[in-house]
Amino acid sequence: MTTPLIEADTISKTFAVRPGPFAPRRTLQAVDGVSLRIGAGETLGLAGESGCGKSTVGKLLMGLLEPDGGSIRFRGRDLAGATREERTAFRKDVQMIFQDPFSSLNPRMRVGEIIGEPLAIHGLVPRDGRQQRILELMGMVGLSAEQINRYPHEFSGGQRQRIGIARALAVSPKLIVADEPVSALDLSIQAQIINLLDELKRALGLSYLFIAHDLSVVRHLSDRVAVMYLGRIVETGPRDEIFARFQHPYTEALLSAVPRVIPAPDKKRIILKGDPPTPLDPPPGCPFHPRCPYAEPVCATSRPPLEEKRTDHLAACHFSKKLFC
Ligand SMILES: Nc1ncnc2c1ncn2[C@@H]1O[C@H](COP(=O)(O)OP(=O)(O)OP(=O)(O)O)[C@@H](O)[C@H]1O
Ligand code: SF4
Ligand SMILES: [Mg+2]
Repeated sequence: MTTPLIEADTISKTFAVRPGPFAPRRTLQAVDGVSLRIGAGETLGLAGESGCGKSTVGKLLMGLLEPDGGSIRFRGRDLAGATREERTAFRKDVQMIFQDPFSSLNPRMRVGEIIGEPLAIHGLVPRDGRQQRILELMGMVGLSAEQINRYPHEFSGGQRQRIGIARALAVSPKLIVADEPVSALDLSIQAQIINLLDELKRALGLSYLFIAHDLSVVRHLSDRVAVMYLGRIVETGPRDEIFARFQHPYTEALLSAVPRVIPAPDKKRIILKGDPPTPLDPPPGCPFHPRCPYAEPVCATSRPPLEEKRTDHLAACHFSKKLFC
């Protein structure tokens, strides 16, 4: 097997939090033993409800947070043991696109300065070649040359996201962590930005970690999909496997929230009860059992391991076979 571009091996991250003003500090397990790999030119879609740990995984892969446990390898090299030169190269090779195109761009900088800043920071293009590179990047994301001196407030949400993408592309990264890049945009604009990311991926051979709440948003772009629940991956596999042959009741519930992606027309609609439990007090046994329509007594006491249910398709449920095969 070829070395993946990036690989996380059982990474974990806890935060010390104070649940109330006078409450003692407690440990919140935001990410708990997550393993994933993204190959060159591949997109991994990471989905799950609010608070399940998606952004924390993204920040760990970016090197913005240090894992408490586990390891991350980029092109086969462990980040923990990376030399200074390797860290500098890593900071260039891995870029991020943010959810909110309104707050992630400096309002006092012109578009050309915003896109050109990473070029200056990384010293990649000589000063006299920068303007040309900035115009090239603007063209790649569908912005026109005459917009170069405008300020972010003069653009719509979709156009601002294009500026953020051009900025991320400026340093010719290998991997882009896109953290809910379309969730703040109108539906019609969401499709345009997803299509742009798809075109750029093909043209530049990029890899993405594409984070979204909703499985329908990750569907178009992803080669592989991972579904998170309370800090853990509960199901992962090739995109078409996850959509057509899901093996976990939580994935089924997420998919049934969007009726058109349910493969069989007679499939019932599953309404999830309540919000996910807080990661401060995760339920014992299978963390999904308080909300699972199929839970049996064993689910309250025994945690199902994430294991292969079909070829290259893993799920963490005691009853996958009975329910879905
Ligand atoms: N810096 C932090 N300090 C304390 N707790 C944090 C911190 N960052 C995240 N958390 C907690 O860790 C858990 C996972 O958060 P995270 O932001 O990764 O979730 P998410 O899946 O990205 O959620 P969303 O869909 O709302 O963006 C949440 O309970 C969150 O409150
Ligand atoms: S192990 Fe039990 S509670 Fe957990 S997802 Fe499977 S059936 Fe539901
Ligand atoms: Mg998030």
